[in-house]
Amino acid sequence: MRHFLDISDHSSEELQDLLDFAVRLKKEHFAGGNPPLFKGRVLGMIFQKASLRTRVSFDMAMRHMGGDALYLSPNEIGLGKRESIADVSRVLSGYVQAVMARVFEHAHVLELAKWSSVPVINGLSDFSHPCQAMADAQTIQEKFGKAKGLSVVYVGDGNNVAVSLMQISAKLGWNFTIANPEGYDMPAGSVEQAKKTAAGSGSKLAFLTDPRAAVKGAHVIYTDTWTSMGQEEETAKREAVFPPYQVNAQLVSEADKDVIVMHCLPAHRNHELTDEVADGPHSVIFPQAHNRLHAQKAILARLFGVA
Ligand code: CP
Ligand code: NVA
Repeated sequence: MRHFLDISDHSSEELQDLLDFAVRLKKEHFAGGNPPLFKGRVLGMIFQKASLRTRVSFDMAMRHMGGDALYLSPNEIGLGKRESIADVSRVLSGYVQAVMARVFEHAHVLELAKWSSVPVINGLSDFSHPCQAMADAQTIQEKFGKAKGLSVVYVGDGNNVAVSLMQISAKLGWNFTIANPEGYDMPAGSVEQAKKTAAGSGSKLAFLTDPRAAVKGAHVIYTDTWTSMGQEEETAKREAVFPPYQVNAQLVSEADKDVIVMHCLPAHRNHELTDEVADGPHSVIFPQAHNRLHAQKAILARLFGVA
């Protein structure tokens, strides 16, 4: 594995191996701690947008395993503004042993990777959020095992988080359904690619607009913000369109009785997800957030080639 930029770049076997490894690292973490496999290594973390989970979980992943992490704020490096992305990447490659970047445009993380002599990780772009999908898959497998044919249903905006969830569902043989308002579909190219993956894995993909029809029999209901970072000027328009897509107790009651409710967080409570559901018995939103730590340790270890 050279970089970790998008779920679609990796085989089902490679992804399942990472998930199994993350489970082992999690056990080890709670049984006294991980060995210092990252000693002498520093992760450079470029953030063009805000973050709690991604920033802290990567930083702690490095520290728990004997390494270190360096936070680089938008103002500090001015990616592509103060200096070209190609130059930032070539300079940074000489200082740190891997780079994690949270960018607005997906093309920018690809550009960083193109010029980098060290591994680059996509920590969320406008197109995808592959590290989130790894923690999500770990959380789903903790609940349901490795069964294929699970029904994973995403309700809301066809955004970066939805794309990565569709991709990993297709890779792991889960059925994936999205219910989104018209005009808020996932990018057509990502759907076409996932359909090809699904044909190989036996996963079924469905693209609906009716959330109630979508969640019938669902094992997983997943939602995310109606307005992603970078879309703030569309907030009022989106707040008018999305309320029928709220994940609330009534919607959850249409799903399988053992359904789990997921959200990548941050949640806009009582918009896309009600307090009642977020804090209710089906919710796994906090274990899901915590799994970012373990999933990312596995990704880092494979990229560093230390395990
Ligand atoms: N889910 C997630 O990536 O959260 P942050 O934006 O806080 O990193
Ligand atoms: N879709 C959200 C996810 C945040 C983790 C965004 O891009 O802002």
